Amino acid sequence: MQNPYFMNTETMRRLVERKRDGGRIAADEWHELVAAFTRGTLDEAQMAALAMACVFRGLDLDETIALTAATIDSGERIDLGIDGFVLDKHSSGGVGDTVSLIVVPLVAACGVPVAKVSGRALGHTGGTLDKLEAIPGVRTDLDPPSFAAIVREIGCAISAQSDRLVPADRKLYALRDRTGTVPSPGLIAASIVSKKIAAGADGIVYDVKCGRGAFVPDAAGARALAQTLVDVTERFERRAAVVISDMNEPLGPVVGAGLEAIEARDFLRGDRCDPRLREVVTTIAARMLELAALDPIASTDALLDRLAAALSSGRAYERFVAMIEAQGGTRNALESLGPASSFASTAAEDGYVRGIDAVSIGELAREIEARGVPCAGVRIAKRIGDRAERGEPLAFIVGGTEAQAHSLAGTFELGTERVAPRQPIVETVSGSLARSTSATR
Ligand code: URA
Ligand code: CA
Repeated sequence: MQNPYFMNTETMRRLVERKRDGGRIAADEWHELVAAFTRGTLDEAQMAALAMACVFRGLDLDETIALTAATIDSGERIDLGIDGFVLDKHSSGGVGDTVSLIVVPLVAACGVPVAKVSGRALGHTGGTLDKLEAIPGVRTDLDPPSFAAIVREIGCAISAQSDRLVPADRKLYALRDRTGTVPSPGLIAASIVSKKIAAGADGIVYDVKCGRGAFVPDAAGARALAQTLVDVTERFERRAAVVISDMNEPLGPVVGAGLEAIEARDFLRGDRCDPRLREVVTTIAARMLELAALDPIASTDALLDRLAAALSSGRAYERFVAMIEAQGGTRNALESLGPASSFASTAAEDGYVRGIDAVSIGELAREIEARGVPCAGVRIAKRIGDRAERGEPLAFIVGGTEAQAHSLAGTFELGTERVAPRQPIVETVSGSLARSTSATR
C-alpha cells in the first residue's frame, strides 16, 4: 500500500468527475479507492456519486477486471484445502429465485463440492443469505476456516461476505442498495466475480436474469453481462458458464425469505415441485456438473439422470439438512417452518394473465417481511399464460395485510387474448475454458 492518504477528497472528486464525463479509471486508481473505501477513509457520498456515474457511463472490461481484483484484494482468498474441483453458482438477482438453496446441496449430493458466497436482498430482489437465515439458528457469517471446514466435511456451505472475505463488496453492495446504483453491468460483474474468486471456486455457473424484473431488462444486455462474467472469470483462470433465465415474472411460486426456505425444503424432499423452478434448477445443476467434468463423456441426459437420482433418493435433502446443521440450525427448526396466514388477491374479471410485475412483487415482499412476521411474502397462484376466472385467486399475501392483497392484485395484467406461457430458460453461454472441457460431446 502506498501513502494511505493518497485517495484524499480532492483526488476522489477528480475520479468522480472523470467517470461522470465518460472517462476511464485506471487499475491502480481502482485499487486505491476501493482500499480507502474498505478502510473507511473515503467519503461515502463520493463513493455513491462514483457508483451513479458508473451506472450511467459504464465500465469497460479492463476497469471491471481492475475493480474485481481490487475487491478481492480487500480481504483474504480462501484456501479450501480441497484437491478436487470446487464449484460455485451465482444469480445476478431475481424475484422468487429459490435456485441457490436447492442447487447447492443437490450438486454436492452428486459428488462435487460447492462453496458458495452469497449476498443479501438487493433492491427488489431477494438474497440467499436472508433465505437461509430464515431457518432459526442458521448462521451465514462463517469465518474462512469454518467455511472451508464445512465444505470439506459436508460437501457444501453458504457464507456471507465478511470483514475477511471481500469486505469491500459488503460495503459497496449495501451502499448500492440504498442509492439506486445496482443496475450497472460492470458493478454487478465485479461484485459477483470477486466473491466467487475469493471463496476459492474452480468453476462457476452464473444465472443472469433477464426481463422486467431483472437488473438487465433486455436479452442484449443479459448477453453482454453474461460475456463480461465469463471474460472476467477466465481472466482469473477459473471456468465459467452462464445460464440466461427469464425474469419477466417471479421464477418460483413464492417470494420472501422464509417462504423460499420452505419451498427449497419441500422441493428437495420431493413434496412439491414447481415446473419452472425445476427447469432452472436442473439446467444450472447440469451445467455445474459439466464444468466440473467429473465424467467428461457423460451426456446431458446422463447428468440429468444423476440429478434426478440425487433428488429421488433423498440424498440431496439430507445434504441440505447436514449443511443447515453445520451452520447452526437443526432439522427440527427446518421441518417446523410453516407459512404465516394469507389473504387472496383475486381477479376482477375473467381473462388471461399477460404480465406480472416482478419488481412490485419483490418490493411488496420486502415490505411485508419488514413487519417482522416470519415466513411472510407473496405466493403466486397464476402464471403468465394462465386463465383466471373472475374472483379466482391470482396470488396470496402471506403474513401481510388485506390492503397489501389489494395492491398485489394490481401487479397482474389480464387480457382477453390467449397468451403463451414464458419459457424460464432463455439461453446458455459457455466460456472457452469450459468448452474445451466438454468438447468430447
Ligand atoms: N448479486 C451480487 O452479488 N452483486 C450484484 O451486484 C448483483 C447481484
Ligand atoms: Ca481445488
